[in-house]
Order: sequence, then structure tokens, then C-alpha cells
Amino acid sequence: MSYQDLGEILKQFNHIKDENILSSFEYNEDAAVYRITRDIAIVFTVDFITPVVDDPYIFGQIAAANALSDIFAMGGKPLLALNITCFPEGQMDDLNEIIKGGLDKVQEAGAILVGGHSLQDKEPKYGLSVLGIVHPDKIIKNHTPQEGDALILTKPLGTGIISTALKAELISEDTAIDAINYMRKLNFVPEEILNLSIHSMTDITGFGLLGHLSEMIINRDLHAEIRINEIPVLTEAYEFACQDIIPGGSVANQKIFSCGVKKEIEIDPAKEILLYDAQTSGGLLISISEKDVQNCLSLLESEGFVDSKRIGEIRKNPSREEKIILIQ
Ligand code: CO
Ligand code: CO
Repeated sequence: MSYQDLGEILKQFNHIKDENILSSFEYNEDAAVYRITRDIAIVFTVDFITPVVDDPYIFGQIAAANALSDIFAMGGKPLLALNITCFPEGQMDDLNEIIKGGLDKVQEAGAILVGGHSLQDKEPKYGLSVLGIVHPDKIIKNHTPQEGDALILTKPLGTGIISTALKAELISEDTAIDAINYMRKLNFVPEEILNLSIHSMTDITGFGLLGHLSEMIINRDLHAEIRINEIPVLTEAYEFACQDIIPGGSVANQKIFSCGVKKEIEIDPAKEILLYDAQTSGGLLISISEKDVQNCLSLLESEGFVDSKRIGEIRKNPSREEKIILIQ
């Protein structure tokens, strides 16, 4: 379904108002947030995907990490998870492995798997509905960056392209191990990082870096300056992009979002498509005060986000029409 079609459909549900709903359909937030008491809000999300790798256990890990990510992106802590599975008859060993992989990630996230629902389907699908908690004052929204913020991306781009290459058997799971390890890596960041002056955060998934970044810049006075040479990418993904191995979703993203993007330099088309590449379990995009950038990067590195990079800044310039400016 296209971005616009989805937006049209969701618009009609937009007017549901309740003073305790702190995040919902509006702004395409990562998860819904509902205040229970003055100190506790629940964060609620669901996500499920089709296999991106052949190995069922690893697929389970990736799908679960991908679903848990939206809780982390809101600054929340996952509490409970429910499995959602669609599965063909007669492959129960694989299903068992998928769920084991999912459980592995739910436990790593400090949450508890408490049930789920499954139904028969030709193509397997797996994911989670996750319930988390957050302090109502500590929600990190996806559309609230501030002038002067730096933008940090925590994982390299290109998992969509790698998944396409895996499906076409152009690359083995052994060779794709960097992409696989990033996709199954939880977007968990410790409180030490969440307590820094982060003004806005989201996870990079189906709409790619520039799609999710344009959802971040809804304030008309702001735009993002992105230094394309600083953006971390998976080397193999770049090589496949040069050979035109690109998922349909990424091409669609470029069509939709490039109208809000101004290129101030020439960009190699293979590099450019990576900026729109639809990610599975992609990294966090963090908008943070200049003063905390170094601290944030070193804390991220000690959490295993070794390719985290500062990729640009949020600037104020009312004369700019585009939300995103690509520079050297
Ligand atoms: Co998200
Ligand atoms: Co999601």
C-alpha cells in the first residue's frame, strides 16, 4: 500500500480524542501512548513481517527486534509481548524455531512473552504486539527536533537491498552477516542515553532514512542538512545498488519523498537510493543537542552500535522550501 493511500485511510480515524492519549495516528508516531497515572503511560505497538532470511530462528529474532523497536523509539521499556504468526500447514519445526528466535529477543529486551495468535496462511509471517511503559514526561516523539540539534543514525543503511539480494540468492546468509546482525540487534538504548538532551527520535523502517526524516521535520521553520558522505551504509548494499538490485519499496519511497529533498551536490544514484532504502529493523534516528553529541556517540559505541554516525543538523531557515538538504 502506498504512503498516500495509507495516510488517506488513517486520516478518518484521526479525530479520536482523549486527554490521556499522548500519541496516536497523528504524525505517524512509532507507537500509541496512553497515560494511566501521572507517572505511568503505556506504549502499545504491533508489527509483523514476511521472512527476510531463510533461517527460521534468525527470522524470528529479526521480526521480534523489528517489532520491539517502536517501543524503544518512543523512549519506552517493553513489558509484555504477544506473538502474531501466519504459517503454512506442515512446517511446524520451522514455526517452532521462529518463535524461539522471537522469544530470545523478547527476553533480551527484558519483556515477557505472554501468548499470541496464529492462523494458517501460504506465506509465513511473524511479529509481535508489544506493550511497554514510559514516564509521560519522558516520551520521545518523532516530530519534535529543535533548531541546532545534531542528527545521529545508529545503524548503517541497506538492509532492504540486502534482503532483496538474499531472496534472489545473490548473496549467502554468511556473507550477509553484517546486515543480519544489525537487523537482529535490539534498538535498546540505556537510560544514560535517554537522559541526554534528545528532542526527537524515531526508528528507520519501511519508509527509509529520508522518509522517516521528513516525518520528523513537520515544523515549517526547520529543515535538515544531511552530509551524505557521513551516512553509514553496508558495503555490500552499495555494491548491489550499483547493479540495480533494489526493492520496489525503496523505489517507491524515492518517488514519494524526493520532492521534499534538495540536492546541493551531485550524488551517485546507487548512493542516493540507499537513502530511501526500506529498512527492516533499521537504526534509530536521534535529534539531540549539540552539547551531548560526543557523549551520545561514545555511549552508543559501548552498546555495540559501532557504526553510529552524526549525519547532519537541524537548521532554521524559513526561505528553504525543501525539508531536507543533501550536502557533501
Ligand atoms: Co517506527
Ligand atoms: Co513499526
